Parts: sequence; C-alpha cells; structure tokens
Amino acid sequence: MSQTVAIDYTQQIDNKDLSHIPGDYGYPWVGQAISVMTDLHNVVNDFYQRYGEVSRIRLGGQNGLLVVGADNYQKIFIDKDKNFSARMGYEKTLGSIYPDTILTSDGDEHREVRRLFQTAFKNDAMKQYIERINEVVARNLDLIEDKRSIVFFKTIKQTLMEVALNVFFGIDDLDGKETAKLIQSFKDSSEGLLALVRKEIPGGKFKKGKEGIRYQHAFLQQLIEERRGQAGTDTMTYLCNERDDNGDYFADEMIIKQAAFLLFAAHDTTTSAIIHMVYHSGKNLEWQTRMLNEIRALNKPELAYEDLDKMGDTDLVFKESLRMHPSVPMLARRTIRDSELGGFHVPANTVVWCPPVFNHYMREYWTDPYSFDPERFLPERSEHKSHSFCYMPFGGGAHKCIGMHFAAMVAKAFMFQFVQRFDYQTLKDYSPKMDHMPLPKPHDGLPLNLVKRE
Ligand code: HEM
Repeated sequence: MSQTVAIDYTQQIDNKDLSHIPGDYGYPWVGQAISVMTDLHNVVNDFYQRYGEVSRIRLGGQNGLLVVGADNYQKIFIDKDKNFSARMGYEKTLGSIYPDTILTSDGDEHREVRRLFQTAFKNDAMKQYIERINEVVARNLDLIEDKRSIVFFKTIKQTLMEVALNVFFGIDDLDGKETAKLIQSFKDSSEGLLALVRKEIPGGKFKKGKEGIRYQHAFLQQLIEERRGQAGTDTMTYLCNERDDNGDYFADEMIIKQAAFLLFAAHDTTTSAIIHMVYHSGKNLEWQTRMLNEIRALNKPELAYEDLDKMGDTDLVFKESLRMHPSVPMLARRTIRDSELGGFHVPANTVVWCPPVFNHYMREYWTDPYSFDPERFLPERSEHKSHSFCYMPFGGGAHKCIGMHFAAMVAKAFMFQFVQRFDYQTLKDYSPKMDHMPLPKPHDGLPLNLVKRE
C-alpha cells in the first residue's frame, strides 16, 4: 500500500515557471527591482494596464507574481485554505536578516509568537507608553523651538528612534556609547535588507546588516538578564515576563528575535505615516486648522490616553495619509500548494507580491482617489468599507499589524504637540519626488517653514 508523505514546503525552492502568465521580468537577475524601488505606483499601474490584476515579474533574483485587486487580496490574506506562507514569501528578503520572527513564521509557530505579545499591547501597557512618548516628543520639539525652517524627516526620524528605544527597551540614556552603537546597528540591519546581493561579502551592505542584527541580539540578551522577574513598563519587560500556555517563560532566543523585529516593524512605518500627515497638512492648511482646533479644545500641553478618541480630525488625516502612502509598500507570500488567482493556475511555491497602494486608488472604491480628502473616512461616507481589502495599510488576516493602535497613538501624541506649538507650511508649489523604499517619503525629506505659535 502506498503512503503519502507530507511535503515540507519550507524545503522547496521557488517555482520559477510562470510562462503561462503574462508579464515582464525586466532586466536579467535584478528584474524590475530598481523601477519598483524608484517608481512603485507607476510600475504597478503600468503592469495592471498591460497585463491585468495578476502578472509575472522578477524582483531581485526572484521570479513571482505581481498581484493587485481587492478580491485577490481577500483570498491571499484571509487564506481560508492555509495556502499562502508569509515565512516563504519573505524568506529571501526580510527573512534573510529577520528569520523566525512573528512575520516570518506560519501556522502554530506564528500563533505562539503572537501570544508572546499578548500583554505588551493591551490598554494597561499603552497607558504607560503614552507618557514615555509625550516626554520624548516634548524634548525633541524643544530642539527646534527657535528654528524658522527644518527638514522634517530628520526631526521625526530622531524623535521616533528615541520613542522606540524608550518604549520598547526602556532606554533613555541617549548619550551612552551603547545607545549610539545600537542605533547604528539598526541602521545597518535596515540597509542590509536593501542589498541586491545577499551574501556576506566584506565591505558589502548585507554583511554590515548581518553584523548589525548580531549586535542587536547580543544587546537584547543582556537586557533579558536585567528585565526577567523585574517590574517595569517597557515592552521588553513585558516580553521577558510573559508566560506560555504551560506557564513557562518564553525562550530567550524567541524574545530576542521578536524584539529586534519589533524595532524594525515599528520605526520606519510610523515615521513614514507621520511625514505624510505633516506633508498634507502643511499643504492643505484647513486640515492643520481643524487639527489645531480639536487639540486646543482639550486644553492640555500633552495628549492623555483617555483623550485619544477625541482626536477625530487627526485620525482622519492619519487614515488618509496611509491610504495615499501606505508605509509597507509590498507584502509577500508564497503558495504552499497549486492554486488559482485571477483565473490563472498558480503552481505551488510561487512567490506573490502585493502592493497595497493599487487598491488604495481603485476608482471602484474611492472618489477622486488622487485628491487628499480625509472626510472620505467619515461614517457617512466610509469609502474604506466599500470592500474589506480596498484599504489595507496594516495588512489583513493572521498577520495583521499588532502595532496599529500603537502607531495611531504615536501619531496623535506627536501631532498634539507639534500642531499646538508650530504653524508649519510646505514650500510654495511644493510637489516632491517621492521615495518608496526603504520607506515611503518625500525624497528631499520634507523641508518646512515654521512659525512658533503664541
Ligand atoms: C503606520 C504604521 C504601521 C504600518 C503602516 C504597519 C503596517 C503593517 C503591515 C502592512 C503588516 C502586515 C505585513 C504582512 O502581512 O505581510 C504589519 C505587521 C506587523 N506590524 Fe505593523 N505597521 C505599522 C506600525 C507598527 C508598529 C508601531 C508596530 C509595533 C509596535 C508594528 C508591529 C508589527 C508586527 C509585529 C507585525 C507582524 C504581525 C504578524 O506577523 O502577526 N507595526 N504592519
């Protein structure tokens, strides 16, 4: 009698044969990687015009499918047949620096890691986090108090790095040598992800990235020893003291990998969201005034946790900024078994790339999608509810972002002080070239003119 042996999909190589699907691999090896990095939105629109919702593409040495459209995303991210692996989708990119993390794991393994974060993002923890955030924001805004012009990217990048170190790791000794090394190691690991050659070649970006992540792991190991069994209100303390279903602490290695990934998942994404909030409200001044009015109505210097829901206009600006510029430009999965997408047969082990930005501009769901119109999110319009996958800045399904409320809280806490302290405007007729990777933002870093408010 023959026995079927289950195939371990993590040991299979990528399917490269997609010749039955229309598309354009582009240049040898790099494929379309460079045009996607520099001009994502246009490349995606162009592929859709030429080939439809599912097309073959090559990105950085991998053949796969570029997929757009709300129904396709529902199938991929809700994944009721458990056929789309995040682990294998990200294996050669994110997984090369951040393997075995919450996002680069599937099924039971993934559920166990998600469990680790259970306490760290509950209301009680969030209430403590906002106090840390407010203090860091105030300190960083003091530094630009007398400036008449700034490049906003520098201010927000530094502020949010300090927020992350403080909230996640409980570090506020910013002048320390260890802190500087940690920040540099993080820059290196993020840069390493962009390396086209993923081999540890001396002097290469990827090697620096791997060294960066090794440094972070060693640093976090030390932190576990300090935090386990102790009381504290930083994320690392929560993770070190969380217990699994058997009542045991989670393994050090697991905590270390997830904590390093948390810094990566949180930092650039939130930086990008706030940059676009300031960009649009520095250009569309009526929205700056609306935010200012709701902030002044609260009559406080800093945002309190219980006032988060009173920031309605700021919330609309946050949502609309993420619609127009989703912080995660491309989500990836790999099929586990043969499947079907957009009427095409998709073989097992095929990588699928999903850029949320296309759905965020589909005319079927959005009125005048190229205009900045935060009111489209008001309950009476609710354009984002036209389809459960027409708006997905935080993804969807099992891997949906665990930091979405935290990100909204950081954005509101920052804007609360920034808008209250400064009248800000973009340059006259400002229409910047946009970067898409490593994070979406205006290429010039968003120069702003500032006037201190009385
Ligand atoms: C505006 C800011 C943010 C955006 C737009 C964003 C977006 C996303 C997206 C699209 C995913 C899903 C990726 C996928 O399915 O392939 C994701 C997952 C994740 N995000 Fe966020 N994120 C943001 C902020 C944060 C913050 C502040 C944190 C941590 C405090 C965080 C932690 C995570 C984690 C841990 C995952 C993986 C969840 C899982 O695999 O189960 N993110 N995020």
